[in-house]
Amino acid sequence: MLVGSIHMAYILAALLFIMALAGLSKQETAKLGCVSGMIGMTIALIATFVQVESALGFVFIIIAMAIGAVIGIYVARKVAMTQMPELIACLHSFVGLAAVLVGYNTFLELGGVAPETVTIPVGATANEIAALLDAANSSVSQAAALHAMSAAELNTHLVEIFLGIFIGAVTFTGSIVAYGKLNGTYKLRVFKSAPLVIPGGHWMNLAALVVSFLLMVWFMSADVPPMAPLVIMTLIAFVFGVHLVAAIGGADMPVVISMLNSYSGWAAAASGFMLSNDLLIVTGALVGSSGAILSYIMCKAMNRSFISVIAGGFGNEGAAVEDEEMGEYREMKAADVADLLKNSSSVIIAPGYGMAVAQAQNAVATLTEKLKARGIEVRFAIHPVAGRLPGHMNVLLAEAKVPYDIVLEMDEINDDFENTDTVLVIGANDTVNPSALENPNSPIAGMPVLEVWKARNVVVFKRSMNAGYAGVQNPLFFKENTAMCFGDAKKTVEEIVANLD
Ligand code: TAP
Repeated sequence: MLVGSIHMAYILAALLFIMALAGLSKQETAKLGCVSGMIGMTIALIATFVQVESALGFVFIIIAMAIGAVIGIYVARKVAMTQMPELIACLHSFVGLAAVLVGYNTFLELGGVAPETVTIPVGATANEIAALLDAANSSVSQAAALHAMSAAELNTHLVEIFLGIFIGAVTFTGSIVAYGKLNGTYKLRVFKSAPLVIPGGHWMNLAALVVSFLLMVWFMSADVPPMAPLVIMTLIAFVFGVHLVAAIGGADMPVVISMLNSYSGWAAAASGFMLSNDLLIVTGALVGSSGAILSYIMCKAMNRSFISVIAGGFGNEGAAVEDEEMGEYREMKAADVADLLKNSSSVIIAPGYGMAVAQAQNAVATLTEKLKARGIEVRFAIHPVAGRLPGHMNVLLAEAKVPYDIVLEMDEINDDFENTDTVLVIGANDTVNPSALENPNSPIAGMPVLEVWKARNVVVFKRSMNAGYAGVQNPLFFKENTAMCFGDAKKTVEEIVANLD
C-alpha cells in the first residue's frame, strides 16, 4: 500500500515538474510554472520522508534540511539579480558534489573494499574487539550481497557508480570555475574571463577521457571492485572540470552555464540510478535534457558550434585579446543627449549588463514614456545573451512595465538600425561590438551582434572606457557617429529625463 502511494506521489511530482518547465517557457505562465515546481517538490519531499525507516535517519534529514534552508533563504534574499548566474553556478557545484558523495557511499555499501583479515590491536578491550568483528562481518555480508547480484546487474550498477562520480566531479569543479569567471565584481574575479589556452589542451582533455575509460575497465574487471581506480578517476575528473570551463572564453559563458545545468541534471539522474530512486532519475533527465536544449539554442544564437563549446573552447587558438590603439572618442553630456533625442523621430534602446548593475530599468521606462509622449518612436533591441542570464533584459524591462510589443529580439530589429535616428546603448558592450563581424581574430568573432553603428547617431552610456565581459575593446566607441556619455547609467538617464521636461 505504502509502496503504491509512494509511486503515485512520484508520478504526480514528475508531472508537476514537467508542467513547471512548460510554464517557465513563457513570461505569462512563468509564475504558474514556479508554483507547479514548488508543489511537485513538496510532494517529493513528503514521499521521501515517509520512506525513512529509522528515527535517527529522520533526525539527520531534518537537521540537514534546516541547515540548508537557513543558508538558502539567507542567500536567496541577499543575492542581487546580477549575481544570479554565480548563485546558479554555485548550486550546480553542490549537485555535482552530492553525486560524487552518493557514488562513493553506494560503492562502500556494496562492500567493494571488504577487509580480508581483521587486525586486533594489542590491549584492545572486549567491546573494541566485538566492534571490529562486527564491522568485518557486515562488510563480508555486503560483499556476499554484491556477488548475489547477476553479472549484468552488477556491471550496470558499477557503471552507474563510475559515471555518476565522473559526471559529478566534472560538474563540481567546472561550476566552481564558472562561479569564479562570472563573479560580477571585475576586480574580485578569481578566474579571468579570457579563455585559458594551454598548448595541447584538447589532447589533455582527450587523454583524461581515455585514461578514465581504462580506469573504468580496471574497476569493473576486478573480482572485488577496487577503490583505487575510482579515486584516481575522481582526481582526473576534478582537473578535467577545471580545464574544460577555464578554456572557455568570457563571451561563451552563457553556453557554459546552461551546459553545467545540463551536467548537473545528468549527475542527479546518475544518483537516482544508484539510489534506485525513480523520481530522481526523471527529474535529473528533465534538467539534463532541458539544459542541453538550452545550450543548443544559445549556441545557435551566438553562432557557435555546440561541440566546440562543450569540448572546452575548441577554436580559440587563434583568438588574441586585442589591445590596440583605436583612436579618439567623443564625449557628450546628458543635457546634449536630451537635445539629440528631442530632434530624433526614431530611437532604439540597446540595454546590457550595465543597465542591470545600475538598476536603471525604471528610469529607462520613464525616459521611454517621455519620448513617446513627444511622438518619438521608441523600441528596445534585445541581444540573446545581453546581461548575465538568458532573458535578463526582458525580465528587467517587464519589471519596469515596459510594454512587451516594443521589446524586440535581435533578429526582429537588426535590419532597422540603418533607418533609425538615435540608438542609446545603455550598459551594453560585447553585444554591440562590431569586431565580432569585422575582425576574424577577435575572441568574439562570428557572434551575431546588434548592428547599432548603422544608425545616424549612437550614444553609449557607461562609466569608463573599460572592456565588457569578454575583455575585448570595442571599436564602436571610436566611430564618428558614436558619442560616449560617461557615468552611472541610472543617474545619466534620470538627468536626461530631467532635461526633457
Ligand atoms: P558587457 O559586455 O558585460 O558590458 C557591460 C558594460 O556595462 C561594461 O562595459 C560596463 O562598462 C558597463 N557598466 C557596468 N556597470 C555600469 C553602470 N553602473 N552604469 C553604466 N554602465 C555600466 O554587457 P553586454 O553587452 O550585456 O554583454 C553580455 C556579456 O556577458 C556577453 O559577453 C555575454 O556572452 C556574457 N554573458 C552573458 C550571459 C547571459 S546568459 N546573458 C551569461 C554569462 C556571460 P564600465 O565598467 O565602463 O561602466
